[in-house]
Parts: sequence; structure tokens; C-alpha cells
Amino acid sequence: MVYQGVIERYRKYLPVNKNTPVVTLYEGNTPLLPADNLKKYLQKNLNLNLNLNLYFKCEGFNPTGSFKDRGMTVAVSKAKEEKAEAVLCASTGNTAASAAAYAAKAGIKCIVLVPSGKVALGKLSQALIYGAKVIAIDGNFDQALKLAREICEKNSQPKADPPRVEITLVNSINPYRIEGQKTAAFEIIDVLGKAPDYQFMPVGNAGNITAYWKGYQEYSSLVTPACQDLAGRHHSSLPHLMGFQAEGAAPIVRGHPVKRPKTIATAIRIGNPASWGGAVKARDESNGVIDTVSDKEIIQAYKLLASTEGLFVEPASAASVAGLIKYIKKGFFSSLVTRRSLLVIVCILTGHGLKDPKQAIKISLKPKIISAKLNSVLKEIGI
Ligand code: F0G
Repeated sequence: MVYQGVIERYRKYLPVNKNTPVVTLYEGNTPLLPADNLKKYLQKNLNLNLNLNLYFKCEGFNPTGSFKDRGMTVAVSKAKEEKAEAVLCASTGNTAASAAAYAAKAGIKCIVLVPSGKVALGKLSQALIYGAKVIAIDGNFDQALKLAREICEKNSQPKADPPRVEITLVNSINPYRIEGQKTAAFEIIDVLGKAPDYQFMPVGNAGNITAYWKGYQEYSSLVTPACQDLAGRHHSSLPHLMGFQAEGAAPIVRGHPVKRPKTIATAIRIGNPASWGGAVKARDESNGVIDTVSDKEIIQAYKLLASTEGLFVEPASAASVAGLIKYIKKGFFSSLVTRRSLLVIVCILTGHGLKDPKQAIKISLKPKIISAKLNSVLKEIGI
């Protein structure tokens, strides 16, 4: 059967029924790519000496270019089922693009609140062309989210003034978003046959790490009830979740909200994550970590992914690989495993590089302009 998106694929694990109008762009089913070149690079340059299977979950291959589509298909389908007239969200850009696309498909209005001047060009252009009402707030994401919540709460009161229109909040505090996003964990298990040992991922508003943990918990036991490797060893069928925040926007690591979050990875420029509690739970229950990576480490990983693997991701997505490199450098794995046991690691690449073309251009050599003559071109090529 032709693939029809995450709701059809995982219907029995999702809060939908036969009356739910499925709003889908055939999201999900994203590649789990073996990261062989990166592995070689790590072996050569960081003396990595592990029996390792390393993969990328390429979420930028979703219809609007980020993992948000998994949650949005469920949230917008439910909003449509519940006769919402509009959906609303605050966003650093990707949620806005996804909400706008799914609302367009559903034929309902979409309003997005974004931090003025801090949304990557690709994301802004998506939200606009899909027909959302885009409102730029003179403030950061946390302020935009507070406003979005206030609007939806006020509006849900029976005596709201102005009179109530059915507006559904589609940020990840909407539980349907988490339900949809957990399908990424299902897919990883479906491909690997079990959960990985470690999963590295970026953390911003913390909905995604919350969703992955829920997904792994629900699905892992169904697929691998008695988890035993080829050598007959029993091991946990749940992964350790390793989340990474940008150093200048790391409230969970610091243990308090960050008033003025700062990072080049605008997607995760968040100082007070809505799903803070979910992230802490995922970290603690999975015996994982939430740590920081610097902008410099993010950019290095960003370039490395593109130049060694042909994978152009947005800077926030490179935080997962930056985190992996940081932990290899720290000797984290060498202290944990014997060299003979196979370790399976997945890095989540959350969004496509074309979302933020300015960043790629900023850190790359500009093309030289030369005259339109064969000799000049050959000279420049060096042949
Ligand atoms: N990576 C990308 C590309 C993102 O867009 C986001 C979040 C994250 C990682 C972090 O995920 O928030 O679930 O911890 N973007 C949100 C947005 C905040 O508005 O698009 P998270």
C-alpha cells in the first residue's frame, strides 16, 4: 500500500478515531541513514575505537523540512475534528511553517507569533506563502509563547471579549503534538528492530525529547519484550536520551530560566521551555543527560555533516552531532563499554539546512566572480 503518513501507519497508537478527518502531507517515514563517513572521521580524528553503529534520523526530509510535521498532522486533524476555526502557535520558525502548511491543507486559518528578526529566512517564507497570519513580536520566543497561551486561554472562556472563535493552540503543550512526534521513536525501532543504546538530539522547548521518551516507552516493549543481543546478553530496550541545548540558551542545564537566550541556532533560542518537566523526566528515567554545546561546536558539526555526509541541516539540528563529539572527546563511551560490545547510536537531525541559507553563506567562502572566458575559468579551477 502507498505510504499515507504517520496517522495511517501508527493509527492504533494515536488518539484518532474513524471520525477524525486525517490532515496529512504524508509526513514521517524519514530515512535512518548510516553515518559511515562521520564514523570514519571520528575514528581517525578522535581516536574513536568502538564497535559502533551510528545513524542519522533525517527529520529534515519531512514535507515542510522539520520533525514538527509529525505532531502537526495529529494536532491539526484533531483541531479540524473539534471544528476549530483557527490554529495558533508561537514559534522560532519551524512550528510556524508546519502549522501554516497543515492549516492550509485543512482549510482552517493559522496565526503564528514569531520573535521579530530571529526567524530563519526559509521558515518565515514558508509560513507566509502557506497563507498564515504572521505576527512578529518585539520580544523573544518565550514572550511569544506566553502571549499565545493567554490568547487561547482567554478565548476558551465562554464570556470572552471579543466573542470566542475556536482557536486551537498547536504548540507542543498541545498533547496531540507529542502524540504525533512520538512516531519518530516508533520508526527507529521498526528499522533497527530495537531501540538504540543512545540517542543524541537538540533540546529547545523540550517537546521533542518528551515525545521520543513517550514513544520509546510505549513501543519498545511491544517490539522487543525480551531484549537479548546475539551474544545472549540482556540489556535495556530503552535508549539513554542525550539532549543538547545551546550554551547561551541552556535553562534546563543551568536549572533556571534564561531571560535573554542567545545562540546562532535560532530554532533553539529558548530560555524557558514549555516541556521542561518532560525533558527532565526523559533525562532521568532514561539515565541520560541534558548538557550544553557552544555555538562554535554547533557550527563545526554543521560543516562536518555537510562536508562528510552530504547532509545539509540547520544549525540547531547539528547540536546532536556536536553533543556526540563533545561526549566522545570527554571519553564518555570508553568508560562505559568494553570495546567488543556493539553500541548503537542515533543522532536526530531535526530540520533541513535550506531553512537557514544565510547561516551557510555566512560561514562559507564566497564564490569569486571572474570574467566569462574559458581561460579565466580554467585558471580558477587550476587545470
Ligand atoms: N531542532 C529544530 C530544527 C527546531 O525547530 C526545534 C524547535 C528543536 C530542534 C527543538 O525541539 O523545541 O521540541 O525541544 N523548534 C520550535 C519551533 C521551538 O518553534 O519551531 P523542541
